[in-house]
Amino acid sequence: MAKILITGASGFIGGFLVEQGLQNRHTIYAAIRKSSSTKYLTDKRINIIYLNLADKKSLRQIWEKLQQEIGRFDYIIHNAGATKVLNKSNFETINYQYTKNLVESLYGANMIPSKFVFISSLAAYGPGDENTFTPIKITDTQTPITNYGKSKLKAEQFLFQQNKIPILILRPTGVYGPRDTGYYEYFKSINKHIEIYLGSTKQTLSFIYIKDLVSLIYIALPSPIANRGYFITDGKNYSIKEFAAITKKVMNKRTIRIVTPLFMVKSAAIISEKIAKLTKKATMFTTDKFKEITKKNWSCDAEETMTDFNFLPKYDLQHGVEETINWYKEKRWL
Ligand SMILES: NC(=O)c1ccc[n+]([C@@H]2O[C@H](COP(=O)([O-])OP(=O)(O)OC[C@H]3O[C@@H](n4cnc5c(N)ncnc54)[C@H](OP(=O)(O)O)[C@@H]3O)[C@@H](O)[C@H]2O)c1
Repeated sequence: MAKILITGASGFIGGFLVEQGLQNRHTIYAAIRKSSSTKYLTDKRINIIYLNLADKKSLRQIWEKLQQEIGRFDYIIHNAGATKVLNKSNFETINYQYTKNLVESLYGANMIPSKFVFISSLAAYGPGDENTFTPIKITDTQTPITNYGKSKLKAEQFLFQQNKIPILILRPTGVYGPRDTGYYEYFKSINKHIEIYLGSTKQTLSFIYIKDLVSLIYIALPSPIANRGYFITDGKNYSIKEFAAITKKVMNKRTIRIVTPLFMVKSAAIISEKIAKLTKKATMFTTDKFKEITKKNWSCDAEETMTDFNFLPKYDLQHGVEETINWYKEKRWL
C-alpha cells in the first residue's frame, strides 16, 4: 500500500488512475482544481486536494501542512495537462511551467517521492518518416511539430535535467476507452455511416486502451526503473483503414468513405479556432491539431516498454473498441 498523489484526477485518464489505485488498495490523493468536475471522484476513500499549479508558493504551503499530517507521498503521477487551449502559449504554461512549479515546490518541503511519473505524449517525439513508415523509436531525435508536443518535450527536458527527484516519463500514444471524448467523435461519425479520411487513406496509428495504460502505470511505480522515458502502446501498429474496419465490424455499420481534401480540413480548423476564440471555449480542432492529425506515420516501437516492465497489454484494438462502444451504448452516448 502506498500514498499516491494523482494530478488531473478529474480527467479521462485521471479518473481511471484513481479507480485502479483504490482497487490496488493504495491511499489516493486526487489533485484537482476548484472548477474541476468530481463526477467520477465520488468514492469516499478518495482524498481530494485542491491545487493551484500556477502558484508555487501555495503549493509549498500545502506540502508543508501535508508533511506534518501524513508525511511524503510515495509516488506522484503528474497527469494533469492541457490538450486544448484558447491561446497557444497556454500549452507551455500548463504543460511545462506548471510541471516545473509542482516539482520545485516539493524540494524544500521534504516531500520528495520515491518516483515522479510524468504523463507525457508520443507528440513529444513528433511523427515518424512518411516515406518508409518506420515506427518511431525511443532513440529517434525528438522533433515535435505542435505547440502541445513542444510543451511536453520542454517539461521532459526539465525533469531530466533536475536531479533531486527520481522521475519516469511515460508517453502514451492515442488513448481510448469509456468516458473518452476524443475518439468518441470518430465513433460517432462511423455510427452515422460516415468514414472520414483527412487528405489520404494512408496513415498508420498506434493506440492504448485506457485500462492497459493504467495497469502499466501501476507496474511502473514500484519498479526500480527511473530517469528514463517510454512509449506506451498496445504493442501493435494499425493502418487507419484497419481502425475503420474494426470499428465498423464492432458497430455493425456500413459506411460511405469520404476523403476530405487537406485545404478543406485546414479551413475548417481555422474556422473552429476562430469560433473558440469568440466563444472563449477551447476546442480540440485547431490548426495545431491539424498538423498532428494529417501526419501519416504515428506508428511506434514500444518493444522496450514491454520487455523492461514485463508488460503484456490485455486489450488489442478490436477488444478495446468493443468494450468502449458497449460503454458508449450503455450510457446512450451512441
Ligand atoms: N488522451 C490521450 O489520448 C492522451 C495521449 C497522450 C498523453 N495524454 C496526456 O494524459 C494526460 C491526461 O489527459 P486526458 O486525456 O485525461 O485529458 P483530460 O480528460 O482533458 O484531463 C486533463 C486533466 O488535466 C487537468 N488540467 C487541465 N488544465 C489544467 C490546469 N490549467 N491546471 C490544473 N489542471 C489542469 C484537467 O482538470 P479539469 O478537469 O479541471 O479541466 C483534467 O483533470 C494529459 O497530460 C495529456 O497530455 C493523453
